[in-house]
Amino acid sequence: MSRFTERIPKGSLLFAPMEGITDEPYRLALNEAFPEWDHYFTDFLRIPSTGMYQNKKITDHFGEKVNSNSSLRKKTGFQILTSHRARTKEHIDKIKELGFDYLDLNLGCPSKKVNSHKGGAYLLSDLPALREILKTIRDNFEGLFTVKIRIGYRDDKNFLDLLKLFEDEGAEAITLHGRTRDQMYDGRANWDYIEKAVQNSNLPIIGNGDIWEPIDIKNIFDQTGCHGVMLGRGALKTPWLASIYKENINRLESLDKEDLLRLRKNNLDLYFYTLEKHYMKRGIKEDALLRRFKAFSRYLYDDFQRGPELRSLFLRSRSLQEFYQHLSQISEEE
Ligand SMILES: Cc1cc2nc3c(=O)[nH]c(=O)nc-3n(C[C@H](O)[C@H](O)[C@H](O)COP(=O)(O)O)c2cc1C
Repeated sequence: MSRFTERIPKGSLLFAPMEGITDEPYRLALNEAFPEWDHYFTDFLRIPSTGMYQNKKITDHFGEKVNSNSSLRKKTGFQILTSHRARTKEHIDKIKELGFDYLDLNLGCPSKKVNSHKGGAYLLSDLPALREILKTIRDNFEGLFTVKIRIGYRDDKNFLDLLKLFEDEGAEAITLHGRTRDQMYDGRANWDYIEKAVQNSNLPIIGNGDIWEPIDIKNIFDQTGCHGVMLGRGALKTPWLASIYKENINRLESLDKEDLLRLRKNNLDLYFYTLEKHYMKRGIKEDALLRRFKAFSRYLYDDFQRGPELRSLFLRSRSLQEFYQHLSQISEEE
């Protein structure tokens, strides 16, 4: 057993890093309302090429509470995004000093801006630059270190070399989203690559991409033999999905759609009220909270018959009060 598998055992369900979503109040709310997720990640802190971040900038991004709450710290990975030119070593030293003990390197970000600066998924196409970055991190960071990747940048030609590179340079696990960068979010993620990674790497592989339903979790484990699974959009759609999976592990095929919809109606209230509590504690203004609620609403209503209509109702709310009014009427939806 490695220290990674001690912390994230086989079969774990991980809540994906998501920019604009997974800040500390969100993670605290999630951990209170739906604590069945085994692990969380922060979204990426972009390491700058010039200047140094103040401690406050780093703690604001990664969270100030997480380091004083040991059970939460053991469940959280801190993600960075960097490039060849960025001041990686200096910032890692700072991150370490601040007590963050698990770094995840973002090598999957498809954004044009990030990739034009040779960060994110771009690095999957430049193995020498990537090797140097991995070395800089590994040589200077004793904590847990993992990578989150896609199957390639333009295509999959480096796929097997990348798996070897991560192993050689001391990464401790790989999360794999089964698409290239150029595929963005097109089509369905290809889990065959996750299976291939499991067969070709000695590192634990976390499968990621298009896990939407409880049965998808079983299917990806069965098909690929991956160590754990990470959910992004599916977790945003059903933040209580880990609990459905764990409570129904032996009857996932026969879950009743009506029951799941009823559960959705009940859980939406709990979700938003717990989120409000944790954001309010941070002194968030109402209009900022409303903007966040809208970001959380992207997939939540898809399973209702009036899904698109409902989503646009919530997204057009002009006040928190109006948002909650829509929420109070959700029990009448089919
Ligand atoms: C709104 C949003 C923000 C994201 N931000 C990040 C991020 O900060 N870091 C990262 O590694 N991946 C990020 N991702 C990618 C997800 O972590 C995940 O790899 C991807 O969505 C595929 O998984 P899924 O099909 O379960 O959504 C983001 C995805 C979404 C939808």
